[in-house]
Amino acid sequence: MRVDVFSIFPEYFGGPLGASLLGRARELGLVDVRVHDPRDWTTDRHRSVDDTPFGGGAGMVMAPEPVFAAVEAVEPARPLLLLSPAGERFVQDRARGLAAGPGFSLVCGRYEGVDQRVADHLCDGELSVGDYVLAGGEVAALVVIEAAARLVPGVLGNEQSSGEESFGGTESFGQTDLLEYPQYTRPAEFRGWAVPDVLRSGDHERIARWRRAQALRRTRERRPELLARDLTADEQALLDEFPD
Ligand SMILES: C[S@@+](CC[C@H](N)C(=O)[O-])C[C@H]1O[C@@H](n2cnc3c(N)ncnc32)[C@H](O)[C@@H]1O
Repeated sequence: MRVDVFSIFPEYFGGPLGASLLGRARELGLVDVRVHDPRDWTTDRHRSVDDTPFGGGAGMVMAPEPVFAAVEAVEPARPLLLLSPAGERFVQDRARGLAAGPGFSLVCGRYEGVDQRVADHLCDGELSVGDYVLAGGEVAALVVIEAAARLVPGVLGNEQSSGEESFGGTESFGQTDLLEYPQYTRPAEFRGWAVPDVLRSGDHERIARWRRAQALRRTRERRPELLARDLTADEQALLDEFPD
């Protein structure tokens, strides 16, 4: 999977792209991330990438010319997505879609944002990583890249582990949009808090039922909008079998 990133702060990416899962994915050649600085396509002495907003107001706006010039020179992987709080909310399903394709590209805004003509005439869409405002698109880009890269076949050591997690969506887990069940590891008792007995029972069918009950309960309590339907009779029976 190829990812092109356009950012006026390319130094943001060195650490995260070299570490842990992303570092390994790049080393294995499964993910190829290239960062391009629109400043390299400026033509003035000061290498300016921003200007004051038409209509007045605080702050500066990223100008269209350097971003257009950079994108047109690089011919990045498509879709090309502008990171913006006003974009479509980035969710796991979108990460799956990006991971399934040959690549994608991201434009990172700074200042008060990016001249609208970049979104309207250069990019294929806009993505938001959540309802809050970051100082720039770099952290948002890393969120999108990491979420997509870990779903590229071969990147995770155990292929199963992306199917059984929150929003995992495999048949074994039963539903696409549940939060994951609680996880425990050794010690079996820590400061007086014991791991649920069922997980130490060795009864794999019962463990699977307990996990599904926990996932249903958590989702219903914490993110009811993900489970906007009545429980099936089987699901209700699971909750009755494991009341807490
Ligand atoms: C300070 S923000 C601009 C915020 C803009 N004035 C607004 O009110 O929507 C600068 C840049 O950070 C990035 N950014 C900030 N929050 C983001 C979010 N939640 N999702 C994606 N990108 C974000 C965008 O690229 C944006 O152009």
